[in-house]
Amino acid sequence: MPHLINNTTKAVFYFYCTKVLLYNLNINSIIKRTNMKTETQKNMKELELSQAFKLIEPGPVVLLTTAHKGKMNVMTMSWHMDIDFTPIIACVVSEGDYSFEAIRKTKQCVIAIPTVDMMKKVVDIGNCSGADMDKFKKFNLTPLPAQKVSAPLIAECLANIECRVIDTRLVNKYNLFILEGVKVWIDPKRKERRTFHAGGDGTFTVDGRTVDLKKRMTKWKDVI
Ligand SMILES: Cc1cc2nc3c(=O)[nH]c(=O)nc-3n(C[C@H](O)[C@H](O)[C@H](O)COP(=O)(O)O)c2cc1C
Repeated sequence: MPHLINNTTKAVFYFYCTKVLLYNLNINSIIKRTNMKTETQKNMKELELSQAFKLIEPGPVVLLTTAHKGKMNVMTMSWHMDIDFTPIIACVVSEGDYSFEAIRKTKQCVIAIPTVDMMKKVVDIGNCSGADMDKFKKFNLTPLPAQKVSAPLIAECLANIECRVIDTRLVNKYNLFILEGVKVWIDPKRKERRTFHAGGDGTFTVDGRTVDLKKRMTKWKDVI
């Protein structure tokens, strides 16, 4: 009998210890996630997902970040477009780019929107490869943790869209990835908000005057 009580007490004791351990692990991961959120939220404010298509619709030159095998990378991209409001975004990441393998394997990325004050840096980022260097260090970019993907946000950018690859059927043929935006961040404090657009030959157009024709958008008033 004493032998039996001893074993039961031991079992209860081990069960209790395991519960305490699991509870602490869970609490620690919640604390970690909360800290991560706070760091990102210090710089960026969350934007409604339904509004994200407006960041891509004007066709700005963007930066695309990835994280693969413990290494972050960033490349410049101008071949992209909205294909739905939700937002669904199509983009070309050439197989020659170091980023290609990262986005193909992880199925995750961040589209960061730079502004005109970053123009020269953005062009330089598109003229060198993460295969040879750490571009975040070289170009003094601050990575911020994303909430839903492993790729980092860029603190210096106006906005960041966390994306998941949802369709790869046209990757082999056209290097075309279909992305879904799953979280969107915008820097509300940023003064410079003008984006820029590629002419394709090394020339760029900077955002100019905005003409407001919202009143005429009668068919689209529920989505804009
Ligand atoms: C203005 C500009 C726009 C670019 N747009 C794209 C693009 O849409 N798709 C693409 O695959 N490469 C594009 N590139 C080229 C890549 O950014 C470039 O090949 C880069 O070195 C890839 O970096 P990585 O090897 O670190 O991935 C663009 C470059 C510039 C300068």
